[in-house]
Amino acid sequence: MNVLRFADLIAAGKVADQRVFIRADLNVPLNDAGQITEDTRVRASIPAIEMALKAGAAVMVTSHLGRPTEGEFKPEDSLAPVAKRLGELMGREVPLVANWVDGVDVKPGQVVLLENCRVNKGEKKNSEELAKKMAALCDIFVHDAFGTAHRAEASTYGIAQFAKIACAGPLLAAEIDAISKALANPKRPLVAIVAGSKVSTKLTILQSLSRNVDGLVVGGGIANTFMLAAGLKIGKSLAEPDLVGEAKAVIEAMSARGAAVPIPVDVVTAKTFAADAPATVKAATDVADDDLILDIGPKTAAILAEQLKAAGTIVWNGPVGVFEFDAFAHGTETIARAIAASDAFSIAGGGDTLAAIAKYGIEKDVGYISTGGGAFLEVLEGKTLPAFEILAKRAQG
Ligand code: 3PG
Repeated sequence: MNVLRFADLIAAGKVADQRVFIRADLNVPLNDAGQITEDTRVRASIPAIEMALKAGAAVMVTSHLGRPTEGEFKPEDSLAPVAKRLGELMGREVPLVANWVDGVDVKPGQVVLLENCRVNKGEKKNSEELAKKMAALCDIFVHDAFGTAHRAEASTYGIAQFAKIACAGPLLAAEIDAISKALANPKRPLVAIVAGSKVSTKLTILQSLSRNVDGLVVGGGIANTFMLAAGLKIGKSLAEPDLVGEAKAVIEAMSARGAAVPIPVDVVTAKTFAADAPATVKAATDVADDDLILDIGPKTAAILAEQLKAAGTIVWNGPVGVFEFDAFAHGTETIARAIAASDAFSIAGGGDTLAAIAKYGIEKDVGYISTGGGAFLEVLEGKTLPAFEILAKRAQG
């Protein structure tokens, strides 16, 4: 996708002494004490800030945090914990500025964090008035919030329309590049793993991928619905019988293209959903009426691992079993290790997937780990995200 990149502006010497407004996604999880429990997004947002500072810009950074009510700032909505963490990671103080829409005092070489942008009235609805005020704060708008790239809000979309210059930051650019490499120009075979509890939440993803991928591995409750579609019994496992027709259509769309949705040949079952429930491996044809399928079986995992090792590109969203319970984690671990061992370019995204990657310590062996949750899913659905649409439009002049 043709968008202006912040790195190109810097290379062209156009950033020194400019006022740079960076929209980051610093929406991180906090515990009850207000402490950050996972700081990947903070770390991932630092390169853009460092680049801007090094180039001699006056730097403003903002993000949303949670889903606050506009116009009603509450202490728990504050980016204060993020300002503190940014400061620790960057080794400098990062002042937090409230009520910033009508003007920000910042000089070249300085960085300030602008308080939760979703507290501003008009943010969610992309108010033109608010967007124009934010655009007037800067010479260059840098969109670096991939996690929010599926939202068209005043600080993500409107400001990109009205700022003198609008460009993609290094994180957004890296995400575009990884996504294009995986989905637009993939080295084949392209294998996607789409797992999760419900077909209904990922149906459009399955449909979209079934037009592109060479192998579509399903897991979790989604696999159970596909097993029903293949005529197998699944006992009392989580599934959506009313979506069996849709699952069959996905299987048919794949086979019409000479591709396949591998259906499990064996499964791991239990009688109750519990970490200490005894696990039984059985053939997919032997599932009893009172069984719960909680993982793919070892034969299935080994077949899929071979496919993943031979793949040219792998897209991974969702663990294939209840990997939080060790007795039902083997399938997800096997898939994770096969991805790590594969020469394929791999891209992974989604909260549970990132947790599985962390559990098995394979971060360095995955080609690209997306910072997007909902944004990553919308990309898999084949949608053009608003962030890319407006930046591409601005790049056309
Ligand atoms: C996310 O956590 O997925 C992003 O920060 C977007 O948050 P939102 O769903 O509240 O817009």
